[in-house]
Amino acid sequence: MEARKIMLKEGEIPRQWYNILADIKLNPPLGPDGNPVKPEDLAPVFPMNLIEQEVSTERWIDIPDEVLRVLSIWRPSPMVRALNLEKALGTPARIYFKNESVSPPGSHKPNTAVPQAYYNKVFGIKKITTETGAGQWGSALSFACCQYGLECKVFMVRISFDQKPYRKSMMEAWCGKCVASPSTETKAGRDALERDPNTPGSLGIAISEAVEAAVSDVTGETRYSLGSVLNHVMLHQTIMGLEAKKQMDLVGEYPDIVIGCAGGGSNFAGLAFPFVLDKINGKDLEIYPVEPAACPTLTRAPFVYDHGDTAKYTPLLPMHSLGHAFVPPPFHAGGLRYHGMAPTVSQLAAEGLISPRSVTQLSAYEAGALFARTEGHIPAPETTHALACVIDEAKKAKEEGKEKVILVNWSGHGLLDLGAYERYFANELQNEVLSDAELSEAEKVFANHPKPAVLKSR
Ligand SMILES: Cc1ncc(COP(=O)(O)O)c(C=O)c1O
Repeated sequence: MEARKIMLKEGEIPRQWYNILADIKLNPPLGPDGNPVKPEDLAPVFPMNLIEQEVSTERWIDIPDEVLRVLSIWRPSPMVRALNLEKALGTPARIYFKNESVSPPGSHKPNTAVPQAYYNKVFGIKKITTETGAGQWGSALSFACCQYGLECKVFMVRISFDQKPYRKSMMEAWCGKCVASPSTETKAGRDALERDPNTPGSLGIAISEAVEAAVSDVTGETRYSLGSVLNHVMLHQTIMGLEAKKQMDLVGEYPDIVIGCAGGGSNFAGLAFPFVLDKINGKDLEIYPVEPAACPTLTRAPFVYDHGDTAKYTPLLPMHSLGHAFVPPPFHAGGLRYHGMAPTVSQLAAEGLISPRSVTQLSAYEAGALFARTEGHIPAPETTHALACVIDEAKKAKEEGKEKVILVNWSGHGLLDLGAYERYFANELQNEVLSDAELSEAEKVFANHPKPAVLKSR
């Protein structure tokens, strides 16, 4: 019988994270005066120990034992050979998926929620605020805060709040508090409601609310936490790619293609960055971040300086962006409804080290349904985007008669997304593709922003 699950022993959990900032150059974030942001400028928003990680260029950073103690509740996560999917596709490709759905909240998100909560705790912070799109991040941070005895307040994008009530219950199970965004609790929320009382919300608006709620707490004991995009988030997520490398070694494989869906970029980065390092050092492989055609930052939006949130509270970040005012259509992959992309992922795309793809909503659900019917596990709507790309590549390998090794991040399960599957099976979902006119309109908000330099890391 061919091996299906490739498991690491608990003692083989990586002890360090890989920091890609040691190997690539990045344009600095810019403040309102147009000058690079200094670490102390970020102090009202994040604890200084995380700001230090955000700007660190050390290649390897130790994972604290107290963080490993919590991560070991579910890590190392399994890598699984998708033998049934391969058979259904009749492909000579060998498909491996890194199953991140085994964490208590059901996705890769706690890989960074746990260290972020830990560093806040060590810094003396009592409460953390955040946004959530799909609800995965809000539940992950609630879980992590619960582990370290911190309060957690989550602003959940209205459309997901309505579509997925049980995510809120999950947050409550871990003592998190969750409100729909835009809310009336913040100025950013009230302004958004005034602009459009029926808005489905967006991650950009929810980030503004969570940042405002943190910095306006007069006790000074509240900080904000972001579930994607920032350098330290990508850093924490590399534990997945480092495990995956060990697991591939165990079966004598190395991927020809690495694939992950990309919203803000963190699950993609976490799996891919340790392989990007190999590519920088001369290895020949393809690396594909996959995004929705309805919110195509890497594949269609320009590489610019833009704000990470709608109310412009964050510095200007060098990233592929559809504009901080962009409200993506309410498609059913809430975690991919973000106007920007991680600066590190954006920089790698600009340099051609990774090759972005986009897929439509219906092809993503079709891939998700095929995966569920072959491999059994029901993927999160975000994850289905990566799976659509896997299936395309596996079919291509069949046409070309090539035995490609494909590694994909199975970023989360879809057990709280069944409402979306129900609509897909009832043929009620459509494809949403951003038109050129919508794109030009969205781009107007950064017309006067400075342009990032074209950097070459090699
Ligand atoms: C299961 C899952 N996958 C992917 C994403 C996209 O986020 P990121 O690009 O940061 O991995 C999310 C975001 O909520 C998610 O919940």
